[in-house]
Amino acid sequence: MFKAAVVTVSDRSFRGERPDGGGPLVAEILKNAGYEVTRTAIVPDEQPQIQQILTEIADSGAVDLLVTTGGTGFAPRDVTPEATIAVCDRLTPGIPEAMRYASMQVTNRAMLSRAAAGIRKGTLIVNLPGSPKAARENLEAVLPALAHGLEMLSGRPADCAKLTD
Ligand code: MTE
Repeated sequence: MFKAAVVTVSDRSFRGERPDGGGPLVAEILKNAGYEVTRTAIVPDEQPQIQQILTEIADSGAVDLLVTTGGTGFAPRDVTPEATIAVCDRLTPGIPEAMRYASMQVTNRAMLSRAAAGIRKGTLIVNLPGSPKAARENLEAVLPALAHGLEMLSGRPADCAKLTD
């Protein structure tokens, strides 16, 4: 069973002005897909604070997957992708490419998500948009393929020729 963390990036949820809808929904989807969600956090749209929580969780080695929700759009304070790219050792552009490709079938505003994804040490970090609907649609687009990537990342033998999904 893979372990996961969910980080909500939102000024208003951090200040308690708006309930965090995206984070709990993402955690629920991950649990239903067989992940053990061992850590959740809410941080404001401040790049240093986002980088700090991503680094702390990834460097603890406690989770295989770290999913963020929020802060991927064009608003001046949307800096989750910049924080993610800054802390990753290797980027995994296929994941946000697949999310935007799938989401474009739902809304042409999918192109406005600047979500990034990448690997820091042994943790895969994936950005999702902030609205619960968008977070669900983006996560469900890539979730079936993630386990194979996480197996490779953990160094476990993973047979790319064996298609299970
Ligand atoms: N992707 C899907 N699947 N469904 C959506 O409704 N909304 C888009 C986009 N991606 C959307 C989506 C919109 S309107 C924006 S502004 C961006 O995600 C960024 O969202 P964020 O600023 O909440 O991170």
